[in-house]
Amino acid sequence: MKKKIVVTGGAGFIGGNFVQFMVKKYPEYDIYNLDLLTYAGDLTKHRDIENEPNYHFVKADIADRESITALFEKEKFDYVVHFAAESHVDRSITNPEIFVLTNVLGTQVLLDAAKANNITKFVHVSTDEVYGELDFDPTTFFTEDTPLQPNSPYSASKASSDLLVRAYHETFGLPVNITRCSNNYGPYHFPEKLIPLTISRIVNDQKVPVYGDGKNIRDWLHVLDHCAAIDLVLHEGVTGEVYNVGGHNERTNLEVVKTIIKTLGKSEDLIEFVEDRLGHDKRYAIDPTKLEQLGWKPTYTLETGIAQTIQWYLDNKEWWERIISGEYQEYFEKQYNGK
Ligand code: NAD
Ligand code: DAU
Repeated sequence: MKKKIVVTGGAGFIGGNFVQFMVKKYPEYDIYNLDLLTYAGDLTKHRDIENEPNYHFVKADIADRESITALFEKEKFDYVVHFAAESHVDRSITNPEIFVLTNVLGTQVLLDAAKANNITKFVHVSTDEVYGELDFDPTTFFTEDTPLQPNSPYSASKASSDLLVRAYHETFGLPVNITRCSNNYGPYHFPEKLIPLTISRIVNDQKVPVYGDGKNIRDWLHVLDHCAAIDLVLHEGVTGEVYNVGGHNERTNLEVVKTIIKTLGKSEDLIEFVEDRLGHDKRYAIDPTKLEQLGWKPTYTLETGIAQTIQWYLDNKEWWERIISGEYQEYFEKQYNGK
């Protein structure tokens, strides 16, 4: 059946992969990519689908109540899948305010618009970082019942938005799901995050900054496995429920960096230990049992996924060089004439 789905943040890393996934998988759905095109938004990744009849782009700020209200009234969307956010922890340490504005106020504006237009489902894409950190005991995991204890301004803003989504369900009966995923990697990952930063620097024989002793652990998931999880939750998730997303791929940051160096045949002398991130969370690890019971299973191991991702960055050097140089931001101006 025809459905209208608005995907916020569809010019970013995960939202962009999700838009591509949905446009191709569901030709009968209309997919609206709603994005402000901040530094993290890039439309060049959608060149191959921009003329598809079921793909639409709208430039808007989720925190701009007037535009969002008007857009929702006009388009009468069935589903909202909400990715748009400020997403980089380091930026939240230097400039927390925009994280509150976009992640908290922006989410509340969308919730109001969804409520006013009797949306069928609102999927809020959150993060495992809202649970805080785990210690290094490998038998402990984040479950959906783990208390929220965010440590960075980024994760605090995401936890705040989660609580608003929950409240709109409890108070107004808005049909919502919240997903909390571990660290993603894969094509079109913005090169300020660990994996793409490492690949782009190692390829150019530049040093890779590893924070602290490099022993912090992250739980990595290929972005397409995350997209499949969100698709499943959108269609099958029990209203009001939270679902953790992760594939049991825990690695120290040093292990990840060394794997990339080895695959690219370069020297470990390129590793540079630098000052630690403030409030650096020690370890994240997801228990995905609840989502698996809904029918989800990851398709990538970290080994296959990292190898494919490194190859993608080698094959798409032009894309990340344009990101690093800032050239990508001119594309929107030319293509859409700033409108
Ligand atoms: P990203 O930074 O790559 O993309 C964010 C997108 O949101 C960009 O296209 C940007 O232009 C857009 N945006 C920012 N502010 C906006 C605003 N005010 N109005 C409209 N659009 C705006 O982020 P990502 O890594 O793709 O993460 C997407 C979502 O997934 C975020 O909500 C993040 O918290 C969550 N998440 C990320 C990861 C990860 O590993 N990257 C893991 C779990 C959850
Ligand atoms: O866990 C999910 C989260 O994963 C998402 O919610 C965030 O949006 C996403 O950015 C990511 O957050 P992290 O802080 O874990 O990702 P990042 O790639 O910034 O860092 C991964 C680890 O690598 C972290 O322990 C810090 C470290 N690091 C990062 C950078 C950028 C370094 O050692 N050196 C670096 O240069």
